[in-house]
Amino acid sequence: MLKGKHIILGISGGIAAYKSVVLLRLLIKAGAEVQVVITPSGKEFITPVTLSALSGKPVVSEFFTANTGEWHSHVDLGLWADAMVIAPATANTIAKMANGVADNMLVTTYLSAKAPVFVAPAMDLDMMAHPSTVRNIELLRSYGNHIIEPASGELASHLVGKGRMEEPENIVKALERFFASKSDFAGKKVLVTAGPTYEKIDPVRFIGNYSSGKMGYALALEAADRGGEVTLVSGPVNMNVSHPRINLVKVESAKEMLSACESIFTDTDIAIMCAAVADYAPKHTADRKIKRETSDVPVIELVKNPDIAKTLGQKKRDGQTLVGFALETDNESVNARGKLESKNLDMIVLNSLRDKGAGFGTDTNKVTIYTRDGRELPFGTKPKEDVARDIIDTIMTL
Ligand code: CTP
Repeated sequence: MLKGKHIILGISGGIAAYKSVVLLRLLIKAGAEVQVVITPSGKEFITPVTLSALSGKPVVSEFFTANTGEWHSHVDLGLWADAMVIAPATANTIAKMANGVADNMLVTTYLSAKAPVFVAPAMDLDMMAHPSTVRNIELLRSYGNHIIEPASGELASHLVGKGRMEEPENIVKALERFFASKSDFAGKKVLVTAGPTYEKIDPVRFIGNYSSGKMGYALALEAADRGGEVTLVSGPVNMNVSHPRINLVKVESAKEMLSACESIFTDTDIAIMCAAVADYAPKHTADRKIKRETSDVPVIELVKNPDIAKTLGQKKRDGQTLVGFALETDNESVNARGKLESKNLDMIVLNSLRDKGAGFGTDTNKVTIYTRDGRELPFGTKPKEDVARDIIDTIMTL
């Protein structure tokens, strides 16, 4: 899978840099061409001589070669790469990447890279758990970078916890998996709905739900990374996405979401209905804020919202694949199968709110997938990015 691939190996300054030598060796053995880019403090941990001997290329660290004045073009490097792997990625480098602080060759190369970027964090457990690191890693994820989660175990500080850089063998596996699946969605037009919908009561109030949009955004990124042309129709969420193959359409209400979906559905190959659409909307929306002093306690009459998945299911033609979600608190499997039938879906992804680490607002999810051809596929609790991969892999089997 990695034969002939151009890979930039970015090394920042942490103890785990010694593992990067093994990673480099494995990448070269797998047939990749590797260009090492190291930060100034990375060189304190591992010598460029070892890295250039193994990669067969001079290691890049500075913007210029001091004695010749030769400029090292991060732009050319960014264009050359099929993938960039930053391992180890320290808290400092992650913070710079998340905020665009371009003060070294590694970060400028990252900012210029057009290729997918894999980030393998390595740091002490408390740094890993600090809200700023957590936020920066979330930001990197939202930019479409692939986070290779660190493992738990003994750290350089002798403390035990999460922060050990993933083993080089597993980083290579993540790259291989990526290149294996990279193009199986190529040319496919994909529609993903995500997030909640807000149904206006008056100009300042709405009916909504706790959906964060994380699962839908992870699905959109996975489908786009695998070559799909994705339209992501998103309700109001606190997330953003930037990917050359994702067209983000922001909507607020279920009606707006339906009309955005209907306008492109005929041209869609695969539609994934991940949004937590509000089932009801106020019958009337007040033009002005409902005032506490001047009105009686308001009674809000509700009307049913359109069922977007069902509407698309009725329009579905041969060759189109429609995937739904089911969020259940009880009678999970019966309800999920019922929705598969009643909405004319080809596959449904069940998350039960009874499972710990599943459902709204969490970074993880635990799903069971039911397919129209009668399969029931249970999966373990995983980060939503990995769940997205399982879902897209299963769509490929339909
Ligand atoms: N869905 C939709 N439009 C709606 C309601 C749901 O497109 N108005 C989609 C969801 O995106 C999901 C599937 O239908 O893919 C099932 O959603 P869920 O909320 O689990 O089920 P409901 O059909 O709303 O039924 P209930 O709330 O009674 O469980």
